[in-house]
Amino acid sequence: MPNSEQVAAQTARFLDRMGRQELAIVRRAYAKQVMVPYNVAHPRVAAAFAAVRRGAFLGPGPWPLLHLSRYVTTPDDDPVYLYQNLLVGIIPERGLNNGEPSLHAMLIAAADPRPGEHVVHIGAGVGYYTAILAHMVGESGRVTAIEYDSNLAARLVTNFAGQPYVRALQGDGAQIEFDPADVIYVNAGATRPADIWLDRLNDGGRLILPLTSDKGFGKNPENIPIQRRGAVFGIKRRGNEFLAKWISAVAIFPCEGARDAECERALAAAFEKGGWERVTRLCRSGDLPDEQCWLNAPDWALAYA
Ligand SMILES: C[S@@+](CC[C@H](N)C(=O)[O-])C[C@H]1O[C@@H](n2cnc3c(N)ncnc32)[C@H](O)[C@@H]1O
Repeated sequence: MPNSEQVAAQTARFLDRMGRQELAIVRRAYAKQVMVPYNVAHPRVAAAFAAVRRGAFLGPGPWPLLHLSRYVTTPDDDPVYLYQNLLVGIIPERGLNNGEPSLHAMLIAAADPRPGEHVVHIGAGVGYYTAILAHMVGESGRVTAIEYDSNLAARLVTNFAGQPYVRALQGDGAQIEFDPADVIYVNAGATRPADIWLDRLNDGGRLILPLTSDKGFGKNPENIPIQRRGAVFGIKRRGNEFLAKWISAVAIFPCEGARDAECERALAAAFEKGGWERVTRLCRSGDLPDEQCWLNAPDWALAYA
């Protein structure tokens, strides 16, 4: 006969297992829902969202959820609250959030990480989307996750301790050395592609590149529409060519080390002018005629043909 302590321990294990099974069902529903806003049809992305526990990365609740531009604290620490298509504050006072699941589902589907590939994740925060990427490349692949903020990077390192195919690093993802990559997934707003992102992209590799003007984040007193403040471009390497395609509008936390005033001005002018959806390639020189370019910066351009 088990004693009362053993019965209590058995009951706790049973409830824990039930809780985990319930959460697995909640995550399956969430994984379907995050595919809907951007009409994403990518079964491996959905499988990753169903498998990865958001709560394992964001720390204990209650959590601040961003709803209609303000944070609402969850009533308690039930992880069910995390499986909604909402941003979660990581450092709310700086507007630094765990990004919107449906936006990431769409961008990750565009990057299409495949089993066995090497993904570099820049601006990894505490690693929820790193884990989604790691799930997609599997144990035959690997992820290098880079986070600039030292406190977040420490949490990132702890969150992936003991997972040899995820390397978590503190540093400036626009400068720090990394191995050649099949996917470079940038999660902060740059004004230009860092040289290393283009140099280290394998032939056939995909770079997800958010470009933002100085109005791309935070307060927007002039009410500039999001389409004229930031854009995510998908860049594909073909030999020495970089094909480029506008993917979506974006407002996102700035990327330290990949911003300069000259490119910011060039971007602001390009957003003002419109025509981003006609961009077809990224050039690593600034000698194209203006009429061929959406954005013509001193040493790089986003061109129409
Ligand atoms: C919008 S937050 C996204 C965090 C994470 N991807 C998420 O959704 O949970 C952008 C992150 O990029 C980081 N960051 C900014 N500049 C960076 C750089 N040059 N290298 C690496 N990380 C950077 C910030 O510290 C911040 O954590």
